[in-house]
Amino acid sequence: MRVFVTGGAGFIGSAVSRHLVADLGHEIVVLDKLTYAANLASLAPIETSNLYRFEQVDICDRAAIDRLFDLYRPDAMINLAAESHVDRSISGSRVFLDTNVVGAFTLLEATRAYLAGAGKALGDSFRMLHVSTDEVFGSLGDDGLFTEATGYDPSSPYSATKAASDHLARAWHRTYGLPVMVSNCSNNYGPYHFPEKLIPLIILQALEGQPLPVYGDGANVRDWLYVDDHARALATILQRGRPGETYNVGGRNERRNIEVVRQICGIMDALRPEAAPHDRLITFVTDRPGHDRRYAIDATKLEMELGWRAEETFDTGIEKTVRWYLARRDWWEPLRERVYAGERLGLIPT
Ligand SMILES: NC(=O)c1ccc[n+]([C@@H]2O[C@H](COP(=O)([O-])OP(=O)(O)OC[C@H]3O[C@@H](n4cnc5c(N)ncnc54)[C@H](O)[C@@H]3O)[C@@H](O)[C@H]2O)c1
Repeated sequence: MRVFVTGGAGFIGSAVSRHLVADLGHEIVVLDKLTYAANLASLAPIETSNLYRFEQVDICDRAAIDRLFDLYRPDAMINLAAESHVDRSISGSRVFLDTNVVGAFTLLEATRAYLAGAGKALGDSFRMLHVSTDEVFGSLGDDGLFTEATGYDPSSPYSATKAASDHLARAWHRTYGLPVMVSNCSNNYGPYHFPEKLIPLIILQALEGQPLPVYGDGANVRDWLYVDDHARALATILQRGRPGETYNVGGRNERRNIEVVRQICGIMDALRPEAAPHDRLITFVTDRPGHDRRYAIDATKLEMELGWRAEETFDTGIEKTVRWYLARRDWWEPLRERVYAGERLGLIPT
């Protein structure tokens, strides 16, 4: 199978790319604009494989996408290209509309045109997987889980644009019969995660003896999934999912943000005892505007219908992740020095 992986130089896209090539032996073409969030070093483990190709392209550029379809004639596509950071969407939403909505629309239309000109065999077997987030569902109270039937109620410019693209994907299936599936996943963490997101930020701040910023009272709950479990779920959906269906992906690992931060501090105390206790660095800061209180995913459909199971618990995954950041200064130091040094993002200017 030859797969287009849009956003393949990002956090999840690179994990999917490594999994498809190194574990499953599929041919991939990564399509990525290389924004600030991209890092070709995350694809280094597969860069010498003859199963891997890279094309720098903006998913909003219809002519370029058409050309790549003609050139490579793929069997499938996973769309992971997105602007993905909620805080950045608060201070600059325009690029989120461009990539997350217009870009997704451009891919749907380009895929439709490609399949219209392809033979029946490819038309029947081609699959497109549009990757989305649980944030489209809004915030839960103390109980309950998001299912595939939960109504959309996004709170941030980021989640609103992801919601819009999910609606487009489903509409393109119903109206044009495009063989597209949607996945909604909970918060990912793991190696190669850009250090503006909570877990890598806390690890690196702790390592450098800097304040560990916790939004609001730290009681916001997220449902954490190790990124390689997400990559396996996406490959499973791409190969065995049914067109037109939605699949929730989650690891049943609910944690309050403050618990996550304290757990990282505990691991750092064990691995870097000379700087213990790291939790003395915890600093509560002004909450994120529109901050959803709780997310929790019911992944029963994916588990029962397609046989996927998360392999990593939060306890095993977070320890692996901390160890990875301690070992891979070569990966993150250039980002900390040149792209993002840990400053606060996403406050509405007063
Ligand atoms: N990170 C999470 O916890 C999480 C959870 C659930 C779903 N998702 C979804 O998974 C997808 C990937 O998330 P991520 O965390 O890997 O994001 P990321 O920010 O790490 O990577 C996004 C990638 O997309 C590329 N990109 C951005 N705009 C582009 C454009 N116009 N054209 C081509 N490429 C472009 C970037 O260069 C980058 O390589 C997103 O759709 C996100 O909504 C993320």
